[in-house]
Amino acid sequence: MNTPNGGARTVTIRPDGVSIVVLERETIVDALRRQGLRIRYKCRRGGCGACRAALVEGHVAYPTPVSDTVVNGPRPQPETRSCLPCRATPLTDVIIELGPRDRIVNVLTGIGAALPHLDTERRSTATHPTRKGPTCP
Ligand code: FES
Repeated sequence: MNTPNGGARTVTIRPDGVSIVVLERETIVDALRRQGLRIRYKCRRGGCGACRAALVEGHVAYPTPVSDTVVNGPRPQPETRSCLPCRATPLTDVIIELGPRDRIVNVLTGIGAALPHLDTERRSTATHPTRKGPTCP
């Protein structure tokens, strides 16, 4: 698809309101990683649904097939469109909304550090997805 910006699209991620540029044929997760950010994901193959987000506005494509059950979850809600950012490539500018317990993480500086507009309470109660599991004493 030819666009004036070489196929790049803007993806806005709520609730934080962070906007990123996603290059042509790039997935949303890959674009986040390229820009030092991360959202929750596991398999990055479209198989687990860990990255599932609401597709609030716009359209995405899946260059490799993904299961509708994984995209929409085990209990799909007809009024909500979903997407898998690990496999989704935007066809238009897109707005997605993370789940209530999901956050964008700056992998270099920690959660919320690159998101100065986040209020203090949200930052202090957020969890860091890469800090799960046992910790050293
Ligand atoms: S990380 Fe598994 S479906 Fe996206």
